[in-house]
Amino acid sequence: MDVLEPVAGRASYDVQWRGKHYLVTNLYAEDADTAREQAPDRRVFLLELPTGEVRPVPGYRGDGQALSRRGLPVCDARLLVNLTGASEGDTILDPFAGIGGIVLAARATHRRVLSLDIDPALRFGLAQFGARHAVGDARCLPYRDASIAAIATEPPYDEDTLSMVVKSLGEMARVIQPGGRLTMLCAPAQADALRNQTHLPLKLRLDEAVNRKGLPCVLLAWVKVV
Ligand SMILES: C[S@@+](CC[C@H](N)C(=O)[O-])C[C@H]1O[C@@H](n2cnc3c(N)ncnc32)[C@H](O)[C@@H]1O
Repeated sequence: MDVLEPVAGRASYDVQWRGKHYLVTNLYAEDADTAREQAPDRRVFLLELPTGEVRPVPGYRGDGQALSRRGLPVCDARLLVNLTGASEGDTILDPFAGIGGIVLAARATHRRVLSLDIDPALRFGLAQFGARHAVGDARCLPYRDASIAAIATEPPYDEDTLSMVVKSLGEMARVIQPGGRLTMLCAPAQADALRNQTHLPLKLRLDEAVNRKGLPCVLLAWVKVV
């Protein structure tokens, strides 16, 4: 990512555009190899098997069931975390943590992370990624009112989860601090119902359709108002 900075007078410049001169400054360059190495299919996840054995599973992305499709790409997880605007030292929560894409993105920028997922089989893997993990239901979060600086999350996309996801938004609104941001990637069918939760102390600030390699999604971001 580059930024163009205007240059006054006859100084040297990198780019001329509409009769004006600019210097090009590189703000950020993605290291494609590093991003690839961090991808879910390259990670090893500590999974508890039905037998009770805990085993490191390379490339684990869920068992293919509608409620356990997991593995947000690194760039999407980072986008959700960055959009929260949380600073170093702030606590970020992911209440639908899956195999920890958002947890890892948040930990990489030195944020404190709380994770929660209803599936107990994920608890060792998520704890190993450095989050304070809880097994629980996002409709009944085990956190105090207004105790969390930011939330970034990706609930399950399945149609049958609509009322659960809507209820969880109420809980997220309860635990987030005033001024804190909540970012979510969801299915288009969920987005409408979530937008309509106007009774909650949340103001919708971002509402963008996103196409994730052929999968239509919606990126929503709210800020908690008092
Ligand atoms: C789309 S996945 C999240 C994937 C995650 N972003 C990642 O990178 O792996 C949704 C997760 O929500 C969990 N889930 C489903 N219902 C839940 C509920 N009521 N409360 C908390 N977690 C739930 C599922 O077990 C699943 O891991």
